[in-house]
Amino acid sequence: MAVEAEKWVHMVTAQTPTNIAVIKYWGKRDETLILPVNDSISVTLDPDHLCTITTVAVSPSFDRDRMWLNGKEISLSGGRFQSCLREIRSRASDVEDEENGIKIAKKDWEKLHLHIASYNNFPTAAGLASSAAGLACLVFSLAKLMNVKEDQSKLSAIARQGSGSACRSLYGGFVKWIMGKDEDGRDSLAVQLADEKHWDDLVIIIAVVSSRQKETSSTTGMRETVETSLLLKHRAKEIVPKRILKMEEAIKNRDFTSFAQLTCADSNQFHAVCLDTSPPIFYMNDTSHRIISIVEKWNRSEGTPQVAYTFDAGPNAVMIARDRKAATLLLQRLLFYFPPNSDTDLNNYIVGDKSILQDAG
Ligand code: DP6
Repeated sequence: MAVEAEKWVHMVTAQTPTNIAVIKYWGKRDETLILPVNDSISVTLDPDHLCTITTVAVSPSFDRDRMWLNGKEISLSGGRFQSCLREIRSRASDVEDEENGIKIAKKDWEKLHLHIASYNNFPTAAGLASSAAGLACLVFSLAKLMNVKEDQSKLSAIARQGSGSACRSLYGGFVKWIMGKDEDGRDSLAVQLADEKHWDDLVIIIAVVSSRQKETSSTTGMRETVETSLLLKHRAKEIVPKRILKMEEAIKNRDFTSFAQLTCADSNQFHAVCLDTSPPIFYMNDTSHRIISIVEKWNRSEGTPQVAYTFDAGPNAVMIARDRKAATLLLQRLLFYFPPNSDTDLNNYIVGDKSILQDAG
């Protein structure tokens, strides 16, 4: 069946959760390939709460590539998107959709155009890793559409070129992004440390302090940090390699005390590195600082940590409770300190578990 002669549309829909780093990625050694200055480790969240849903469609009637994010058309001229698309296209295979009588030959992918519609079910660019879920979902859905026969790890190296943290959203559970050594970035990819069933007592609570877009994007912020912060050099070389080993141990042994200490310390050091940047970058606000104090005080009064906190490039708090009981007590505490309809800027809570990549198509 000749592709040009038909007016068909072939589409795939996928859903990808976001991930939250417990050992942070901050700083690139190669900006184009997106190669980091250190390894990082994350937890993939429950897709029912924070996820991107993307539908990718191909048809001979499309005259150019187009994309809509949350219903609004956006430009596709960016180098990162084009890198991902080029990498996926070069691995495309024949596609045969018997049910709808559609056949696409490998060589046709070069001339066919795409329409992409993507939705985030949470605030975009507010420091809740929207780019991680977005780019991971884009790569995953395009790979399905074009029948790419690569494993998740190879796909993660492609998603990395869209947004660094996206490579970790290709897996559920606990995920490590290995920084790699190769110049071409082939060995800079994500691996799963433990699947989503491992350590399923943990409960994740996100306090949405602000859903406004951040003033300094992660990309710009980390570029300025790499250029100006001495603390980052120390962190990447001396601190993170040791923390990664300890964090892997803590996850393997479900050792919440170590997990919480490492998670909180790494979040605080990431924000210290932002402060050590010239000009300094402030991602947290007063409400974020109050949340840290509340959790720190409670953990100390209990003798053993009940909750870990971590903040990405924004003021929103991601808290990981050791179990459901701790999560309930945490919510009670937060509601006491930040009552609904009070004048605090804490406006929403999202509660969920760790989870897995879902194919919704
Ligand atoms: C603070 O992955 O958004 O969330 O690679 O430039 O797209 P780019 O940056 P991005 O940075 C995420 C930074 C972070 C920490 C983390 O997720 O590890």
